[in-house]
Amino acid sequence: MLRQAALIFALSVGLVAAGQQNRRPTPAAHRHSPSDLEVFILDSSGKTISNIFLSRAFLAGLPQKTTILKADENFPELPTSHARLKGVDLDTLIRAIYPSDPRVAAVALCRDSYNSPFPRQAILDHHPILVLTIDGLSPHAWARKNHTYDPMPYFIAYQDFVPSFQVLNQDERAQHPAEIIRLELLPSTSLFTSITPPNSAQLPPGSPVLDGFRIAQQNCIRCHNSGETGGTKAHRTWQHLAEVAKSRPDYFATWVHDPMSLKPDAKMPPNLKYDQATLKALTRYFQTFAP
Ligand code: HEC
Repeated sequence: MLRQAALIFALSVGLVAAGQQNRRPTPAAHRHSPSDLEVFILDSSGKTISNIFLSRAFLAGLPQKTTILKADENFPELPTSHARLKGVDLDTLIRAIYPSDPRVAAVALCRDSYNSPFPRQAILDHHPILVLTIDGLSPHAWARKNHTYDPMPYFIAYQDFVPSFQVLNQDERAQHPAEIIRLELLPSTSLFTSITPPNSAQLPPGSPVLDGFRIAQQNCIRCHNSGETGGTKAHRTWQHLAEVAKSRPDYFATWVHDPMSLKPDAKMPPNLKYDQATLKALTRYFQTFAP
């Protein structure tokens, strides 16, 4: 109820403002430009409560943060670029449109069906920045000028990412979604509901299944989905991975470690630093979803 009230408030302020001389950009109920960021607000069951569109001008009107482009997996050919990035802290963005209850998590959805989850804690620990400009240009204009990958309309960067935890061989990942066209905001507690292993409450901390669960949240969820949760870039569901983990555990582990050793043109990135314990944790975790 509260959330709905906040949104309706935000939207009605928009309507009032639109009728005034001095227009201040506000959230809109419809898309006006391809660069509008669509924001979905979901309840704990994953149902959409509301969706709004934020224009580039609206985002630029929020308090801005700056950082320098560095160690971004989207620009591997520019490792020492000193491009200046400017954008909005994800937490600032959430508070601007969701003032009644900012205790939410976010998921960034990308044009190519890749997605990145941002648990509440990660938002507070790392302050992901939704980048609006690079060296004063839109990401698209900058990419054209520099003949490099075009992350338009939006991508995420950090001022300084230091992992907060490590699970076996997986450090907390700096999520770097690019070509973000949509944000979902949802209660933090329901972010990973559909990929939580059965009987997880009975498992002791540090059990392989729970470790695999935490690694999957950092990694696999970006391209593989369980229902509405996770990216669909891989076109292979959680259920499919579960069946592979159960029927061919060695193939599963080898694939996760180094897909190209099995399929020379594999598109999935390798995880060469995963040791046997890490691969086993993932295999055990995915097996729990097999029939
Ligand atoms: C960046 C995207 C991406 C990520 C992240 C990713 N995958 Fe994949 N995965 C793919 C794609 C794409 C395929 C389809 C095969 C290919 O690579 O061409 C695939 C295929 C697979 C397969 C092969 C299924 C089969 O039918 O043979 C397995 C197993 C798998 N992934 C497991 C995982 C696990 C476990 C993780 C997390 C540790 C993970 N993937 C993370 C993109 C990804």
